[in-house]
Amino acid sequence: MKKKAVILGGSKGLGLELAKETIARNIQPIVLGRSAPNIPDYHHDVSYKVNLADSTSVGGCAARVGAWWDEDTLYFVWNAGVLEVAPVDKINDPRGLIRTNLDSAVRIIESLVAFAKFLKRPIHLVTISSTSSWKARKYQAHYCLTKAGQAAFSRALALELRDDLPWSRVTLVKPAGMKTKLFDEVEGTDITEFMDPQDVARVVWDEVLNQRNFFKEFQVDRKDGKPIIVRRNFAPILFE
Ligand SMILES: NC(=O)c1ccc[n+]([C@@H]2O[C@H](COP(=O)([O-])OP(=O)(O)OC[C@H]3O[C@@H](n4cnc5c(N)ncnc54)[C@H](OP(=O)(O)O)[C@@H]3O)[C@@H](O)[C@H]2O)c1
Repeated sequence: MKKKAVILGGSKGLGLELAKETIARNIQPIVLGRSAPNIPDYHHDVSYKVNLADSTSVGGCAARVGAWWDEDTLYFVWNAGVLEVAPVDKINDPRGLIRTNLDSAVRIIESLVAFAKFLKRPIHLVTISSTSSWKARKYQAHYCLTKAGQAAFSRALALELRDDLPWSRVTLVKPAGMKTKLFDEVEGTDITEFMDPQDVARVVWDEVLNQRNFFKEFQVDRKDGKPIIVRRNFAPILFE
């Protein structure tokens, strides 16, 4: 039986590339998002519509997450995210951003862990945070808050899973800039030199599938346009 990977935010950008890459590695993707994914040869029987900004929709997803389990470890990729760049008092929908990037996903993961404990089966959480989890970025206070929150939650959960759900794993990924639609609403960001999300997806799955310890954290930086893994831990603040 194939392993499965639930990809929260697998319909476009990095998430879509992570989903395509699972197929290449004989893992079955289950893609979650508001829009259906566009993956060649992929039949939509395992995509699920969820709007992380809507608490009813999130409740439905949290109740359903155990149904995707089989015998094996379940990969859960926490990838969905939105970015708005604006001063803290001018941002359009700060609550919506926090709900989408942090709160709703945490709710789904709580449910996932409860199912895992009930079934006594391990999970492998792959968190796509960002270099914004530790860098100070002007007019991105809410976004940075959510990315740092994702990282802190994932580290603490790793410790808990190590003892409560043996064989579980947590991988915390902090990518630098990628060419995706994340910046569609952000004026003046030149993404031409950013990394190709397909290249990033490849190195992320390589790291995930080679992980032996209960926790792994790394940054994906770019060198000559290509992703490289950086394992050094960074100080929490950098004013650029
Ligand atoms: N691009 C970068 O430079 C960069 C750098 C570091 C980290 N990241 C992180 O990488 C992750 C992926 O971003 P991306 O760059 O690939 O952006 P993207 O192309 O805009 O993709 C975002 C994904 O999140 C999902 N999503 C957004 N709002 C949602 C909602 N309300 N409900 C459900 N799903 C929602 C989208 O699905 P639907 O639209 O179908 O709902 C989509 O699959 C994010 O967590 C981002 O913070 C990105």
